[in-house]
Amino acid sequence: MKSTVRSSRTGTAAQQAFRDVMAAVASPVAVVTALDGSRPHGTTVSAFTSLSLTPPMVLVSLDERSQLLAVIRGSGRFGLNVLGAHQVGLASVFARSGPDKFEGIDWSPSEELPRLPDAAAWIAAEVADSADAGDHTILLAHVMAAEPGEGYPGPLTYHRRSFGTHTPLAR
Ligand SMILES: Cc1cc2nc3c(=O)[nH]c(=O)nc-3n(C[C@H](O)[C@H](O)[C@H](O)COP(=O)(O)O)c2cc1C
Repeated sequence: MKSTVRSSRTGTAAQQAFRDVMAAVASPVAVVTALDGSRPHGTTVSAFTSLSLTPPMVLVSLDERSQLLAVIRGSGRFGLNVLGAHQVGLASVFARSGPDKFEGIDWSPSEELPRLPDAAAWIAAEVADSADAGDHTILLAHVMAAEPGEGYPGPLTYHRRSFGTHTPLAR
């Protein structure tokens, strides 16, 4: 099944208000990866979430112009490297466009996917379905492997256009 969601509200003022509202939403940050043949590719992504427990599924939303989206369409799978606060540098590297983002970056293959070391969590996922929604494509994927990270200082978050981390409130 492939569905399409479209909004009729595309005016500049509405878009700016929406951007500002979404900037106030604290998001997790991950580098989503895939292999283009033997070449690793990755992109910084905030639009991901758990989708289902039975069976375990995740959801990722990618811009229709994303190079990574084209790679995943070919390979049918992606890796979700959830970043810790210590990996803020990786978030900036993988938010750039271009084919050589992995140059000088340490990684290893896992489930035929590029895995970054020392991440807050690792998920390997196989795409089951997709839906075009506005200028993005939502990938719905089955979890093939899921592993929490260990010993990282805290999660990397994105809020009001800045990177940060989560601090538990005192009770
Ligand atoms: C904090 C942050 C979150 C982002 N979240 C997303 C996202 O959820 N989906 C997306 O398509 N792009 C997202 N981007 C933008 C992509 O990282 C950026 O457009 C990248 O250059 C795309 O690379 P590609 O064309 O190689 O896929 C985000 C960028 C930042 C800095």
